[in-house]
Amino acid sequence: MADAIGLGAGPVLIFPGGMPRALDYLRRCRREGVAVIGASSLAYDIASEQYPSWLRLPYIHEAGFNAALRQAIRDYGIGGIYTPNPVIWNHLQGVLGNLAPDVTLVNASPVEELMAGYRATRIDSREMLAHPLALAVSRTPQPAIAEIAVAALLRHAETVPGMCSHEKTRALHDVARHTVAGDIVEIGSWWGKSACILADLARLYGIGRLLCVDPWSNAHLVQHDEHGLVDKGSALMDAEEALTVFEMNLLPFGANLVNYLRMPSIDGAKHYRDQHSVTSAAFGTTSYEGRIAILHIDGNHAYAAVKADIAAWTAFVADGGWIILDDYTWPFGDGPHRAGDEFLAEYRGRIECAFVMGGALFLRLY
Ligand SMILES: C[S@@+](CC[C@H](N)C(=O)[O-])C[C@H]1O[C@@H](n2cnc3c(N)ncnc32)[C@H](O)[C@@H]1O
Repeated sequence: MADAIGLGAGPVLIFPGGMPRALDYLRRCRREGVAVIGASSLAYDIASEQYPSWLRLPYIHEAGFNAALRQAIRDYGIGGIYTPNPVIWNHLQGVLGNLAPDVTLVNASPVEELMAGYRATRIDSREMLAHPLALAVSRTPQPAIAEIAVAALLRHAETVPGMCSHEKTRALHDVARHTVAGDIVEIGSWWGKSACILADLARLYGIGRLLCVDPWSNAHLVQHDEHGLVDKGSALMDAEEALTVFEMNLLPFGANLVNYLRMPSIDGAKHYRDQHSVTSAAFGTTSYEGRIAILHIDGNHAYAAVKADIAAWTAFVADGGWIILDDYTWPFGDGPHRAGDEFLAEYRGRIECAFVMGGALFLRLY
C-alpha cells in the first residue's frame, strides 16, 4: 500500500493533547522517558506549552484530516497514537489500518477503560449483598442498603489511595449493619481510604459521626519492623501532603459527619474524654457522643503502640460496639497479632463475636 507508513518506535502522538487524561498520559510518558508529540484541532491550545513539540491537525470530520494525519506520521516518525476522546478513538480505529498500518492506538477504547471500574464494582456490590457474613451476634442487623449505594461506596473507595482490602471493606459493611449507634473512631487514617469507607457507612446506616485521630507526622510512622522495610518505605512519604490528601478525600462528607484530631492517639483519647467536640480549620466543628460504636485501630503497628491504642480507647466502646484491629495478620511484624491475642484473653468475658477477615481482627463487645 503506497500510503502505508511503516514505523518503528517513534514518538507517541497525544491527540487531543489538552484533555485531562491526555495530560495524565503525558506526565506518565515523561516519567518513563517515552517520546511524545502533542496535537489538537484548536487554533491555539494552551496545553501546547506543556509538550516538547506540538502540531495542529484538522478536526476529524474535516476533509483534510486523514491526509494531515498521514503527513504528520511521516514527518515526525510517529509510532503510536494516544487519544482519550471516544469519538476520535473510534475514528482512528477505523482509518489507521489503511492510513498507517504499523501505527497503533496505544490505549484501549476510552469508554471501555472508563467503564471497567464501574462494571467491576457493580459485580462486587451484588456479590457483597448476596453473601452477607453470618455473624453470631444478638443484635438483629439493619436491613442492607440498596445495591447501588454499596456500589457507590466501593467505587468511591477505589478512588482513594491507601490500605484497606476489598475483604476488609466487606466485613466493615456487615459490622456497620450489626452495630449500635455512636461515634466511629479511627486511629490512623493517612490518606483516608478506610476513613472514606467508614464515613460512607456511618452515613448510610445512620450510625454516628467519624473522628479520625492521626499525628500525620513522619516520626510516628517509624515501626521498627524486623527487616526495616516498612520504615524505609515510610521515610519516603510526605506527612504534610498526606493530611492534605486526607482533607481532599473527606471534606465532601462535611463537618456534620467527619472531623479529625492531628495528634497521637493517646492525646486524642484525652481530648475525646474531656470534650465531645472537635474543631479543625478545614472541617469546622463537629460534636461527638462520647461513646464509640466502631473503633478502628490502624495506627503504628509496633506492639507497644497497639497496646497503648487499645488501652487508651477501649473504655469508650459501647456495649454492642466493635473494635477492629488492623493487620492482625501482617507479614512485616506481629505487634497487632500479639496485642490482639492478649485482648482476646483479657476480655474473653466481654467478647460476643470475633473473626478475622482481610487481615483484620473484628471483635464485638457485650
Ligand atoms: C497504615 S496507616 C493507616 C492507613 C489507613 N487507615 C488507610 O486506610 O489507608 C497508619 C497510620 O497510623 C498513623 N499513626 C502512627 N502513630 C500513630 C499514633 N500514635 N496515633 C494515631 N495514629 C498514628 C500514621 O500517621 C499513619 O497515618
